Amino acid sequence: MDELKSVADAIVAHQKGILAADESNPTIKKRFDSIKLESTEENRRRYRELLFTTEGIERYISGVILFDETLRQNSRDGTPFAELLSSRGIIPGIKVDKGAKALALHPGEKITEGLDGLRERLAEYKQLGAKFAKWRGVIQIDGHDIPSTYGMHANAHALARYAALCQEADILPIVEPEVLMDGPNDMDRCEVVTSKMLEILFAELDAHRVIFEGILLKPNMVIAGMKCTHESSVQQVAEATARCLRRYVPSAVPGIVFLSGGQSAEDATDHLNAMNAMGSYPWQLSFSYGRALQAPVLAAWGGKENNVATAQKIFFKRCQLNGLAREGKYNRAMETATNS
Ligand code: 13P
Repeated sequence: MDELKSVADAIVAHQKGILAADESNPTIKKRFDSIKLESTEENRRRYRELLFTTEGIERYISGVILFDETLRQNSRDGTPFAELLSSRGIIPGIKVDKGAKALALHPGEKITEGLDGLRERLAEYKQLGAKFAKWRGVIQIDGHDIPSTYGMHANAHALARYAALCQEADILPIVEPEVLMDGPNDMDRCEVVTSKMLEILFAELDAHRVIFEGILLKPNMVIAGMKCTHESSVQQVAEATARCLRRYVPSAVPGIVFLSGGQSAEDATDHLNAMNAMGSYPWQLSFSYGRALQAPVLAAWGGKENNVATAQKIFFKRCQLNGLAREGKYNRAMETATNS
């Protein structure tokens, strides 16, 4: 347990958070489609190398979540990515779920697969250098009946079985119950569903004997769905999210690392900043962003070698701004400042 606790503390250390670079091959293909780049193994490797070799990011990035393929890849000089990251003081982690599939007899709901053989896979990932893992449960909001209580229980149960297997293997589990933010629902509905999901999740984790001190929680923020017509302010999102987490996340959990879930890079940074500016919490409040750290980088790179330096500059800046948001010291004017 000491090992898990020290990895958790290192990940949520002062100013630091996680880069989620664990897009599965179908997901990274979608991202590459947006810059008209073919998703070959070599292009995926080049892109991840651009991210992992950006100078200075170790000041703000404590851990990187990798996909299976990436954990087995090397930088162009032949150094395994896990070794490259570790040598820079960045902890390598691994996505271990096998994706969300349709939940039988529950139209519109999903269940995440990947428990079969997980104990053996964790042992191999540990050999390859991973010190933490991630499993994402997906909760869709649709009308009043979705998610069903059963759908939330099924996902919480899978998350708890995964977390227990990780702790058994001395790998820190990041527990990610993602309430999607792509629907027409308002912020209140997101708060109700997120609250219920967290309540069910922590009961399942407890029932599975998972030690709360040895996990990190990766939740969504409480936010209106993207198709909702009512705009909510940064302060409203921060207050609703902080209230929901204070009510449902035990204080034994060392840290909460938010997903960005499709928010713009600026919004994700601003929301995290507002929460940290509002006061102190029983847990560290940090980030584990995928799109919010990478979208501007990918656009600047466009798959071209000539653009690597510019893309890395943009990536460093996003890491730095999120590092400032960890302390409530970010403001939007920094987005346009030349040297913030
Ligand atoms: P986003 O920040 O793009 O939501 O990705 C985080 C993640 O790891 C989703 O599982």
